[in-house]
Amino acid sequence: MIQKTDDFPFALIPAPLLAWYRENKRVLPWRENPTPYRVWVSEIMLQQTRVEAAREYYLRFLKELPTVQDLAACEEEKLLKLWEGLGYYSRVRNMQKAAIVLCKRFGGEFPADEKQIKSLPGIGEYTAGAILSIAFGLPVPAVDGNVFRVLSRLTENPTDISQPLYRAYLQEKLAAIYPEDGEGCSDFTQSLMELGALICKPLSPDCDKCPLGGICLARRHGTQSAFPVLPAKKEKRSEKVFVFVIETPSGIAVRKRESGVLKGMNEFPSRIAELGDTPERALKEWGVSPYTIVREKRYTHVFTHIRWEMDCFLVRAETAPFPVYSIEEIERSVSLPTAFRQCMEILFLLA
Ligand code: ADE
Repeated sequence: MIQKTDDFPFALIPAPLLAWYRENKRVLPWRENPTPYRVWVSEIMLQQTRVEAAREYYLRFLKELPTVQDLAACEEEKLLKLWEGLGYYSRVRNMQKAAIVLCKRFGGEFPADEKQIKSLPGIGEYTAGAILSIAFGLPVPAVDGNVFRVLSRLTENPTDISQPLYRAYLQEKLAAIYPEDGEGCSDFTQSLMELGALICKPLSPDCDKCPLGGICLARRHGTQSAFPVLPAKKEKRSEKVFVFVIETPSGIAVRKRESGVLKGMNEFPSRIAELGDTPERALKEWGVSPYTIVREKRYTHVFTHIRWEMDCFLVRAETAPFPVYSIEEIERSVSLPTAFRQCMEILFLLA
């Protein structure tokens, strides 16, 4: 069930918010020349990364792949390397799938049509709204975490933001108050996000500086910390993982993961350590012999649903059962998810 807040004066939001945004917006690379492609790339990155961290990734990505056609044609390893460290690698894979569809069916251009945009791999309600409003100047809302927070506080709405109908309700309310001009639509979407990022922050909102302070119910009642209502956090499952940095005279072993988390990504050979498992047993099963375990390093890597307790071993061996790469190649051209890149350090630690 969702709670409606139809009595709230939504129509009073745009004017002060737009004026505030135009005075206070941050200079961000995707705000210059906001083509559909540039907005798309930025929004996918920003779904998982803070603005400051995304900036460098964004500039590098656009420099290497400036057009939809470049993305469609990019070699997989290069693509994953450009995304290395951002996580959620299926997002960039989906982007490439969508780019291929755009090239095949739409002449390499984004259609200015909500239904067609949403039919593309990896593009849901939020991303479609962001592209349509920010790049095409159409009155289509984009409700992300920032926008949920701003609107839930303004209206003191007690609905859990994971309720799909709540998103639909807010979209409907926003769609009714979008400005009529293209620039207004583009700015309005971004102004809601920007207010959430700069003023209506999760922990310590700067209500004194808020252009909507006069109409905000949470501010009036001092209930900011009670909104938005978030879904209960699920406990993460823990797994113990052995990782082996197998160093041979011709290089370090790297292979593709065939299943589980990070399927299809490169890794230093690893496996889930079941009760009683030992590194010796794993190395024997892979036929690594003779070998010496030189060092061990433990650390934790946290994914959305799983926590990996990593036990990483530096192993010296004559030969490796998997393809090998030099350290320079691993730095420069092999994409390694952060969970594994962290073990690189073991090579440089003093024994
Ligand atoms: N967060 C998500 N999208 C954003 C954007 N376009 N600008 C700033 N922050 C954002």
